[in-house]
Amino acid sequence: MDITENSLCATFQQSFLCCRRVGSLPWQELENLLTQQPCLVLNILEKTVNHPLTRKYPPSLQYRRLFLLELIKKHEKSGAEPLDDLYSALAEVLNSEENTVCYKSYFLPSGDAVTLCENIAIISEGTTGLVTWEAALYLAEWAIGNIDVFRNRTILELGSGIGLTGLAICKSCFPKKYIFSDCHQMVLQHLRDNICLNGFVLGKELESQEDTENTQHSDIAQLSVMELDWDSITEQQLSRLEADVIIASDVVYDPDIVTSFTKVLCKLLLCRKVNRHPELLIASTIRNSETYKLFQTKLDDAGLKWQILDDPKRSIFSYQSDCLIQILNVTLKV
Ligand SMILES: C[S@@+](CC[C@H](N)C(=O)[O-])C[C@H]1O[C@@H](n2cnc3c(N)ncnc32)[C@H](O)[C@@H]1O
Repeated sequence: MDITENSLCATFQQSFLCCRRVGSLPWQELENLLTQQPCLVLNILEKTVNHPLTRKYPPSLQYRRLFLLELIKKHEKSGAEPLDDLYSALAEVLNSEENTVCYKSYFLPSGDAVTLCENIAIISEGTTGLVTWEAALYLAEWAIGNIDVFRNRTILELGSGIGLTGLAICKSCFPKKYIFSDCHQMVLQHLRDNICLNGFVLGKELESQEDTENTQHSDIAQLSVMELDWDSITEQQLSRLEADVIIASDVVYDPDIVTSFTKVLCKLLLCRKVNRHPELLIASTIRNSETYKLFQTKLDDAGLKWQILDDPKRSIFSYQSDCLIQILNVTLKV
């Protein structure tokens, strides 16, 4: 395979494994190459539908079906002989039953991947937390470009959902401790499962009242999951966590939760660790400019300063092209 074929196969593989929208894959480039390289279809089949990661952690059936139909269409259009492998892969998919959960694998620059069990519906069990949102990818990408912000530090993530950002940071940015948190029981259970799926061993579950001094020290990041509800957590409970960096992604999506979220940010910023206030980074997809403006106004009213950080390159993960995302660095006004 030459470089063009290699990079096309790699793009198909990465996009397929994280279920990037089928229509956004480079089908035209494939069509152009197929006239000279009809076998390329089999390479793509091996790198996607028949990939060992797909066998172990399959993307949704619907996704695999749509993908295979498009691949077969391109193959037929090239005028090449029919390929049994393509049709048997489709038959296998058509004869299987859809589940409510699927797997998505997100490749990191190291070549390692974060694999997550996600729900196939965007909202289920009354929560938005059972799928990965674009701002989570964006924040993970920013973190990978700014490793020193996280290296050897204690990170607290608010509204972690099923764990993409945290797992990408734990695999790429060498934190000392990483505390995932959320308020929803089902989300917390999926989060724990995903952490284990990615080869991490969870430390003792943190409870809000617990003194975290007791946790062991080692060179490997200590990961824990905590039930943390912004509506009820106290400043005292938060200060025991001794977080150096606090992050959150896609938690500013509903005007009803903006007030409690802003209050928790104020409590967190007042916590000091050896005379330093923690760093606070909030990534948001701006779907509704009114809701986002409300968040900024609440931060201003609470006496907090915010600054928009530079965009990461958006070269690691796949995003919807029309998705406007920003990271705010929130600090106390001095
Ligand atoms: C849109 S999801 C984002 C999940 C993840 N951060 C991501 O970007 O993929 C919002 C998350 O915030 C959590 N959440 C909402 N209200 C909360 C509250 N009051 N306290 C803690 N977490 C909350 C939800 O359970 C959900 O997991």
